[in-house]
Amino acid sequence: MQPARSCLAIVLAAGEGTRMKSRRPKVLHALAGRSLLGHVLASVSEAGADDVAVVISSERPEVGEEAHRLVPHAQIAIQSERRGTAHAALAAKAALAKAHDDVIIAFGDTPLVRPETFVALRDALSGGAAVAVLGFEAKDPTGYGRLVENDGHLEAIVEHKDATPEQRAINLCNAGLMALSGGHALSILEAIGDDNAQREFYLTDAVTVARARGLDAVVLRASESEVQGVNDRAQLAAAEAEFQRSKRVAVMLGGATLIAPDTVFFSYDTVIGSDVVIEPNVVFAPGVQVADGAVIHAFSHLEGARIGADANIGPFARLRPGTRLAEKAKVGNFVEVKAADIGPGAKVNHLTYIGDASVGAAANIGAGTITCNYDGFNKAKTTIGANAFVGSNSSLVAPVTIGEGAYIGSGSVITRDVAPDALAIGRGKQVEKEGWAKAFRAVAAARKGAKKAAE
Ligand code: UD1
Ligand code: MG
Repeated sequence: MQPARSCLAIVLAAGEGTRMKSRRPKVLHALAGRSLLGHVLASVSEAGADDVAVVISSERPEVGEEAHRLVPHAQIAIQSERRGTAHAALAAKAALAKAHDDVIIAFGDTPLVRPETFVALRDALSGGAAVAVLGFEAKDPTGYGRLVENDGHLEAIVEHKDATPEQRAINLCNAGLMALSGGHALSILEAIGDDNAQREFYLTDAVTVARARGLDAVVLRASESEVQGVNDRAQLAAAEAEFQRSKRVAVMLGGATLIAPDTVFFSYDTVIGSDVVIEPNVVFAPGVQVADGAVIHAFSHLEGARIGADANIGPFARLRPGTRLAEKAKVGNFVEVKAADIGPGAKVNHLTYIGDASVGAAANIGAGTITCNYDGFNKAKTTIGANAFVGSNSSLVAPVTIGEGAYIGSGSVITRDVAPDALAIGRGKQVEKEGWAKAFRAVAAARKGAKKAAE
C-alpha cells in the first residue's frame, strides 16, 4: 500500500486547545483508548512516513513526551509563537531541509484520517502535483477555508475570514491536511506571507505560491466525518462516536455478532475473531484480543486480556490486564481476573477474584474463591494445578500452590501448599450439641416472660 518514496510527516500540535477547558493539552485527550495525537501518529506511520516531526508549543512539553513515547525517532519542534499553520510547519525546518520525496502535513487534533487517505495524497504527488489538498463537502462551511477549483485543478484556498460572498458560497472546504512534494516544500512554505485578515502565515497559501510558480495543485475528497476535528468536549464525543460506529461495523463484517452494537465500546486496538458473540453493554479497554467463537455476555469490562477460542465470559465479568483465557475457559458473573492464566476448559463461574495466578486445565474454582495476592507491600502468586477443585468461599493465601487434582474443602483458608490429589481443609472443625437449640429457646422464653410480668 505504501508508496516506495521517502516521506516526512509534520504533525501540527501547538494549538491552544482552550475550548477543552482542561489541564491536559487537547491532543492528549483520549479517543478509543489512545490520545488524539496517537491516532494521527499511527495513521501517518502506516501511510509510510519514515520521518516524523511534531510541532508543539513550549507551554505543553507533555505533548512532545507523548510523541516520543509513541514514535521514539520523532523530532520535536517548538513553535514559540502562534503565527499560523505555515509558521507552525516551518518550525520543523530542520526536518524539511532533509531530502524527502513527500511531505505530509497533518493536524494533531484531527484523529480519524485513515492511512489510505494520506497514501492517496502521496499518490497525487507521484502523479506530478506539487501540492495535494484534502477537501470535503461541508454541511455548514462557515469557518473553513474554501477550495477554489478551476478546470480540475486547485487555484487557491481562501480562508473564511478573507473570502468574498461568492467564495463563501463554495461548499468544498479545506480539511487542513495536505501533502507537498519534498523538492518544493521548504521553499514554498518560506514564500508564504502574512498579508491577510488574521495576520497569520497560512499553510493554505501553499496553493497560490505553487500555482504562481507554474506547479500543479490538486484536491482529493474525503468524507466530512473522516476529517472532523476536535476543539471541545462535544466534538471529542462526536469523534469518539464516529470511531465506534465504524469499528462496530468492521467487527460485524469480520464475522462477529453484536446484539446491540450501539452499546458496545471498542478501543483502537481491539481484535475480535469470527463467530464471536458480544452481548449488550460490553466495554473493551485497550489491549484486548478475542479468538473465534468466544461469547462475551452482557455488562463485562475487558482490558489487556487475551481470550481463547470458544471461551465464555460474564455476564458482569471484569478482566484486567494480564488476563489470558485459554480455549473454552469460562469466567462467570461477578468474577474479576488480573494477571492470570486460566487454562483450557477451566471454570471460574461466580463471585471470585483471581489475581497473579495460574489455573490449570479443567480446574474448577468454586463461588467466592479469593486469591489473597497482596500483603500491603508485595504481590505473590497462586498456582492451581490441572483438574483441581477449589471449594466455595476459599481464601488461597499466596504464595501457594494447589497440586493437580487436589480438592480444597469449602470455606478453607489455605496458607500452605497442597499436594496433588490431596484434600486440604483449613477451617474450624464442625461441633454439634444435641438438643441445644430447644433448651436455649425454653430458657430464653422464660426469662422474657419474667421480665414482662415485673413491668
Ligand atoms: C485551518 C485551515 C482551514 C481549514 C481548517 C480545517 C489554515 C490557514 N486554515 O483553519 O483552511 O478549513 O483548518 O479545520 O491552515 N496550529 C499550530 N500553530 C499555529 C496555528 C495552528 O500548531 O500557529 C495547529 C493547531 O494546533 C491545529 C492546526 O494547526 O492543530 C489548525 O489550526 P487552526 O487554528 O484550528 O486552523 P483553522 O483556523 O481551523
Ligand atoms: Mg481548527
